[in-house]
Amino acid sequence: MALNPNIPFHSTGLPEDMAVLKRALETTLAKIPGAHGAGAEQRILNLACGRADETGVLADVFGREGERLEIVGADIRSAEIEEANLRWGTAKGNDMHTRFHVEDGKRFLASMSSSERFDLTFMRHQNFWNNPVLWAQMFEGALRQLSDDGLFVITSYFDVEHELACRKLTDLGAVKVAEHRNPHSRKLSDAPGKSVDRHIAVFQRPSPSGAGA
Ligand SMILES: C[S@@+](CC[C@H](N)C(=O)[O-])C[C@H]1O[C@@H](n2cnc3c(N)ncnc32)[C@H](O)[C@@H]1O
Repeated sequence: MALNPNIPFHSTGLPEDMAVLKRALETTLAKIPGAHGAGAEQRILNLACGRADETGVLADVFGREGERLEIVGADIRSAEIEEANLRWGTAKGNDMHTRFHVEDGKRFLASMSSSERFDLTFMRHQNFWNNPVLWAQMFEGALRQLSDDGLFVITSYFDVEHELACRKLTDLGAVKVAEHRNPHSRKLSDAPGKSVDRHIAVFQRPSPSGAGA
């Protein structure tokens, strides 16, 4: 499903970053058999989403097969969420619906009904290394709300933070189903060793039978 921004991006380099992310996600998904086997209705959770610049990419890559798509985002930074709502707000009654909330991710997840499910949870540039306790709680809550065959996708700026986050997700019982080192990741000139969407990993919940994903 195509979702175009209502207002332009501020940074001129952003469309290129989004094009690179889209390509990297498609490459990653191609490693997962049946990853596009979506139902009529797709629900995406974008946690710690900031401005959620990647909303159009998520709609395009993950909402492709669905007839209806809902994208829900949450972050503690109010200015970023305001911008996300402005840029990506959708008209009422659309088959595509977005909403972005100023909310602590852990609280947001805890307030959900136990039956609420997302087909995809996305955490771009997750920040596990910075506060392992908090982010482990968000990982745990997000896995709990993931549908049985749903995908939990993280991206990371640098190698160690990616390894730490992946290890934690595995400790929490998630199963890694794809991994991608993005060769077109844009280097951050002020942060050696860091680059935009440098790593992508995709996890699933363990199968109910315990036989693995
Ligand atoms: C590295 S930034 C990534 C932002 C965005 N996903 C992106 O890639 O541009 C980490 C984000 O985590 C958010 N964050 C930190 N603690 C949070 C919490 N408790 N609940 C929700 N978001 C949180 C920050 O506000 C920030 O936007």
